[in-house]
Amino acid sequence: MGLFGRSRTTVGLDIGSGLIKVAVVDHGKKQPELVKVAVTPLLADAIVEGEVMDPGIVSDAVRGALSAAGVKGSAVVTAVGGRDVIIKKIQIERVKEQQARELMRWEAEQHVPFDMESVELDFQILDPDGGGDEMQVLLVAAKRELIENKLRILTDAGLKPSLVDVDAFALHNAFEVNHPDAMSGIVGLVNIGHEVTNINILDEGVPILTRDLTVGTRRFREDLQRERGLSADEADQLLQGYDRSSHLDSVIESRGEEIAVGVERAAAFLASSARTGGQLSSVYTCGGGSRIPGLTEALANRLRIRVDQANPLANLKVRDGAFGSLVTDEIAPLMMLPIGLALRSAA
Ligand SMILES: Nc1ncnc2c1ncn2[C@@H]1O[C@H](COP(=O)(O)OP(=O)(O)OP(=O)(O)O)[C@@H](O)[C@H]1O
Ligand SMILES: [Mg+2]
Repeated sequence: MGLFGRSRTTVGLDIGSGLIKVAVVDHGKKQPELVKVAVTPLLADAIVEGEVMDPGIVSDAVRGALSAAGVKGSAVVTAVGGRDVIIKKIQIERVKEQQARELMRWEAEQHVPFDMESVELDFQILDPDGGGDEMQVLLVAAKRELIENKLRILTDAGLKPSLVDVDAFALHNAFEVNHPDAMSGIVGLVNIGHEVTNINILDEGVPILTRDLTVGTRRFREDLQRERGLSADEADQLLQGYDRSSHLDSVIESRGEEIAVGVERAAAFLASSARTGGQLSSVYTCGGGSRIPGLTEALANRLRIRVDQANPLANLKVRDGAFGSLVTDEIAPLMMLPIGLALRSAA
């Protein structure tokens, strides 16, 4: 390490309803490097449909995950998502950043169906160097309660959030680094988690639409238990395995259809509202559900477009031993969001 070289690490923390995930990225060198990953399972029903039922259990699990990752400091980057976060691309007259900030509250009143008293707003000018009279702005509104609840869990765990991001932006971050090809045209990013499938549509790399479906590995497991008479463990083994069992056929058919319809609806909404009217060109999947053997292929057949599993390590430097005893190929697809968070350099 040089005289001025100091380690500048960012800790990305993704509090999922099934697994708490931590990614640590070192920003001290020319290229970011993933130095550590940890996952800790969360007790069933501690988080249900995005709502934290038991903050104590969640805080303890967060502490556990961070200590497993060897994190000593208290600064973390985390994110909020779901129904109470709205992203909207709008067009306004070209003004300076400060003036845009003042305009945003008024704009949000026109575009966001929440009570303005109870939201936090943020925005990003998409074409800061553009020349025209108008500029494109990505407006983000999140219910304050959602952010406050998140912050409470973190402070209860003894942490100091350095940034509260939005899930869709964090995913976008990880895609930008690892799948630059996803940054052109209209692309769907489908994060299939434990309880929720989060669909994000990117238009030329800009996350312009996000939708949630309440389907995830938990539903797949429950279907397998009910329809095929499997135990929870047996179902999990099939869902997390490598070979496609015929037990999976009907659940992949029905739940796959549900996810495909969600993607189609999101794309159709976009086509009806955007000037582009463009077609979805491809889809990437991630999250624990993207590992279900045969699901990616089923989505591709049903949507008739290319569907690939995303890999957050495709273009990322990984330090030896970062995954410890975890099997890299099994955990990587689940790490898209936390790696996207950790790629934020907490400058
Ligand atoms: N190697 C693995 N280890 C643990 N769980 C796995 C693994 N592979 C797949 N899974 C499945 O993935 C699920 C967790 O996926 P993920 O981390 O994407 O969900 P989550 O973020 O916890 O949930 P949500 O986003 O819906 O709140 C587990 O509940 C399990 O069913
Ligand atoms: Mg998740």
